[in-house]
Amino acid sequence: MNIITAQNAGFCETESEKKIIIAKNAGFCFGVRRAVDTVYDEIADQARNANKIPIYTYGLIIHNMEVVKDLEAKGVKIIHNEDELKAISHGTVIIRTHGVAKRIHQLMSGLNLNIIDTTCPYVRRIHQIVEKESREGRRIIITGNLGHPEVEGITGWAESEVFVVESEQDARILAEKIDDNACIVSQTTFNYNKFQDIVDIFMEKCYNGTIVNTICNATEERQIETGRIAKEVDAMIVIGDIHSSNTAKLVEISQKECANTYFVQTLKDLPSKLPETTTLIGITAGASTPNNIIEEVQKHVRINF
Ligand code: F3S
Repeated sequence: MNIITAQNAGFCETESEKKIIIAKNAGFCFGVRRAVDTVYDEIADQARNANKIPIYTYGLIIHNMEVVKDLEAKGVKIIHNEDELKAISHGTVIIRTHGVAKRIHQLMSGLNLNIIDTTCPYVRRIHQIVEKESREGRRIIITGNLGHPEVEGITGWAESEVFVVESEQDARILAEKIDDNACIVSQTTFNYNKFQDIVDIFMEKCYNGTIVNTICNATEERQIETGRIAKEVDAMIVIGDIHSSNTAKLVEISQKECANTYFVQTLKDLPSKLPETTTLIGITAGASTPNNIIEEVQKHVRINF
């Protein structure tokens, strides 16, 4: 096998006549790794402890069902809402990378629970910005997906009116009616180019309020790299869970550059064949995709395509 180091990606591999480019930034980001490791560490601690207490995660720890199922098999339970949280009398509750609203934090602190907070520091920073800006009287505009747990969490730190902008169209409507006394932040995994486009729409209306690009570096790098690889290759494989919003954005970016973009959750979603003319294949993965799934897909592509 011939391995070539590529400047713009992890590496290229050749097997038969086809080449593969694997994104350097594919898979778990540091925030997700930290959260998942925390849950496994807690399971290990409990296994050694004579007085075992239940372990819960507040929502799915990551948007990847393979990992979630494994944790469930090891006894970790999921709390789905505030009512379920209130019904718990003891145990460890782990807050995921997406974070939670201030109200939920306060509720947890008031209960007799051991709280482990794995809110990603990048998300925590947005909570702080939103709390401060809203306290100073500014309305909050979040570019992100309405209903996404991270967006719900961010919304829950604001003390003023909040608007969620998902698209350029939403931005145009809002820009008509909002004044400058507002602060624009973003969901950490929002599409970087879309954020710029939305900000431009507000700027056209002579917006002069606060703008903080809170898209995390890991997301931005992953998206830029995905677009760059997708532009080069004949077929692009994006691996991630169907519920992962950052994976969905990678698919969107890839599709713009490469018509033969395949979104797969696991090996079984891969097509049996790629178009005849394919000689260069790109592989990337969302922030919540475990390494073993990436390895499996990569191995399959190398041997079978
Ligand atoms: Fe944090 Fe960015 Fe990952 S916000 S959870 S490092 S995608």
